Amino acid sequence: MNAGFNAKLDADLQALKASGTYKHLRHLTTPMAAHVHMEEAGDVIVLSSNNYLGLADEPSVIAAGKRGLDRYGAGTASVRFICGTFDIHRTLETRIAGFLGMPAALTYVSCWNANTGLFPTICVEGSAIISDELNHASIIDGVRLAGKARRLRYKHSDMQDLEEQLRAAEGCAPILVVTDGVFSMEGDLAKLPEIVALAKRYNAVTVVDDSHGTGVMGKTGRGTIEHFGLTGEIDIVTGTLGKALGGAAGGFVAGSAALIDTLIQRSRPQLFSNALPATVACSALAALERLDDHPELVERLRANIAYFRAGLSRLGYRPLAGESAIIPLIVGETSFAIAMSEKLLQGGVFVTGFGFPVVPEGTARIRVQISAKLTSDEMDRALAAFAAVGKDVGLLP
Ligand SMILES: Cc1ncc(COP(=O)(O)O)c(C=O)c1O
Repeated sequence: MNAGFNAKLDADLQALKASGTYKHLRHLTTPMAAHVHMEEAGDVIVLSSNNYLGLADEPSVIAAGKRGLDRYGAGTASVRFICGTFDIHRTLETRIAGFLGMPAALTYVSCWNANTGLFPTICVEGSAIISDELNHASIIDGVRLAGKARRLRYKHSDMQDLEEQLRAAEGCAPILVVTDGVFSMEGDLAKLPEIVALAKRYNAVTVVDDSHGTGVMGKTGRGTIEHFGLTGEIDIVTGTLGKALGGAAGGFVAGSAALIDTLIQRSRPQLFSNALPATVACSALAALERLDDHPELVERLRANIAYFRAGLSRLGYRPLAGESAIIPLIVGETSFAIAMSEKLLQGGVFVTGFGFPVVPEGTARIRVQISAKLTSDEMDRALAAFAAVGKDVGLLP
């Protein structure tokens, strides 16, 4: 072991601890649900998971994964194009494409993988990528990997700035405009109707990562694109299976048949890394079926979002406005947000404080995330903890 190297890492970690910004992993001993048992804090209500529809412990989703293990074994021990594709991959990909109203889809082991596998493959010399400044880190890194493309950013949801960047990119081909559907730290929605109109005017290709919109937005949970009535109008959709759709792992790209075939041929995570585990593919398929058969899950989620937002406002909090299942409370400094989430945990509520560098310094936040599975009793108990902690830390009178 190189002692100097490790001493430097230790010093950096000590600095994080001293500034109150060190992140502690929490160890759950029960499945993800509206409440869980945590080694460090006992039984707690969960307000910090992306388990929006409560499908992570849904019996049909679990049973499908078990059947998948029996049927397919542990895996193929190979990448997809060699001998690593099961029929369940095709079934799931066809289902995802149908769910989104897209011609075709391709799964990856995560949406991180999907985003970092997409941009470098399709953005070669002479192309341009225009990205919202608040896009998810996986988009940012995916765009960075597309080193030959011209890379431009527009101010968050600023359509005038987007148009300026589109003008700056004129002459490039293709020009991609990429945005989150629901922004993960703000909870707000991309202005998709305006983005689509501008992209059409400048002959650009639209890419929407709807990881936090899937299962949440739209009448039937098909996401932000359904919410805005834009099904069929977006060129490329990326998303995750690791949030509302079962919560294990997995991501996808959906688009034209030519795009999907290009990714199969050239996308590096497809060529050099194993596929989504078959068990996870089986569970994700069951999650999609559950969502299709139970549209009331989306209605319940929406009712819970409205209930909790109203409760927070009644207490005196001023959450950022929004329609998604993400309700951010801006509290100021990073160490304050982390200390507040620690107190909430002691009060039986598991909710994460986010600060720099995830969000700009001074805008640290408690990010509340709502699940369809939360009962009104659980939400009332969580609100009581927010009332007590809010007074304790001086946020509420
Ligand atoms: C917008 C967005 N894209 C991609 C990801 C990554 O998803 P995955 O966990 O499937 O890699 C996330 C996860 O937080 C996300 O919020």
